[in-house]
Amino acid sequence: MNTGHPELVAAIAAEIAASGAIPFVRFMELALYHPQFGYYMRAPEQTSERIGWRGDFYTSSDVHPILGQALAKQAAQMDRLLGQPDPFTVTEMGPGKGLLTRHFLSACRRHFGSLFERLHYVLIDRSPAMQALQRLHLTSWLDRPNLLTWADDLADVAPEEVNGLFLSNELIDSFPVHRIQVTAKGAEELWVDYHNGRFVECLRPLSSQTLADHVRRMSADWPDGYRTEINLYALIWMKEVAQILSRGFALTIDYGHAAQDLYRPDRKSGTFLCYSRQSVNEEPFLRVGEQDMTAHVDFTSLALTGEAHGLRTTGFTNQLSFLMGLGVEHMIEQLEPDSPEFKAAVHLLRPNGMGTTFKVLVQHKGILNPELDGLKYKPFFGSALTAQSAA
Ligand SMILES: C[S@@+](CC[C@H](N)C(=O)[O-])C[C@H]1O[C@@H](n2cnc3c(N)ncnc32)[C@H](O)[C@@H]1O
Repeated sequence: MNTGHPELVAAIAAEIAASGAIPFVRFMELALYHPQFGYYMRAPEQTSERIGWRGDFYTSSDVHPILGQALAKQAAQMDRLLGQPDPFTVTEMGPGKGLLTRHFLSACRRHFGSLFERLHYVLIDRSPAMQALQRLHLTSWLDRPNLLTWADDLADVAPEEVNGLFLSNELIDSFPVHRIQVTAKGAEELWVDYHNGRFVECLRPLSSQTLADHVRRMSADWPDGYRTEINLYALIWMKEVAQILSRGFALTIDYGHAAQDLYRPDRKSGTFLCYSRQSVNEEPFLRVGEQDMTAHVDFTSLALTGEAHGLRTTGFTNQLSFLMGLGVEHMIEQLEPDSPEFKAAVHLLRPNGMGTTFKVLVQHKGILNPELDGLKYKPFFGSALTAQSAA
């Protein structure tokens, strides 16, 4: 049995020995982001193959540059709507290996020269190891002064500093989540204990009032035995994003759902999954620090939190519709049918795969009723993000 990275397992076990069982959210925080041994935090040579075809999981940017190209096109339209500010700042949080950034920059330089000249691109990543990989993949862009800068934390960006676009792809699903189970006592939380060299779960009362309030709003019709996840950190993040945006857009891509779908009564086991070598499992207590952990995003709570802090919801769509709205068919037309590039690009659009699992939420601030090409097609009813369960 592989419990995981030995020093990480020892560090988590020591915390439990000192303070007693910990909520699952704390376990996930340590497994992914322990400063020395966490999955995303270890040295670059160890992190380099976590994301990618030979790694534990791949993202859209490993598949094809088309998402970065479409985002550059969308940013150019946002730039025009904002009156072409100088600089136009793109702040990308959680850039992973930096491939999306690279694709965005290449498309921007090639097709949107005026925007490229005014572009300031900020990469925020809490992992020094991932930052090192980003620098490696972006080496050829480092020469132009003031094009790229890095930050470790959203808190390093001053309030109202971003005039342009705040962007993330598969960031929120990597935030630690609270895991909940409905029992005869009501909603309880999964905590983690350590016995005889193994992590074990136990059910305890909810660990905070904020969590209890959130669960109460979501849980009206959850049956006994129902398990799910609550991403409270995403809501704090959304508030911080609203604060640093002065004028412009927040564009969030991730796999997830509107709350009425994510928390529907028949989704009894939640969406929490671990990824190891391109296969999924539901065993967070094995391979600790050596596999990724994720949960699907509740886009309704994100949108409502944004609304409460000054962001208006521009629209909500899926990746397929987003890319179609930005003319992906013209980009694909230039590829040889049957070529690996063509097949890869189509992979991002699959109606039963990445095309619909991935959603795109766009919010705006300081601009009136902007209309964006990426939101031209509407796969959801207007009320999708205002479900009464999350109101
Ligand atoms: C799944 S990867 C993102 C993949 C990437 N965006 C792509 O398109 O390929 C998650 C990234 O978010 C970073 N991250 C997670 N939580 C963060 C936080 N609170 N602040 C900054 N970066 C964070 C991780 O270090 C990692 O680089």
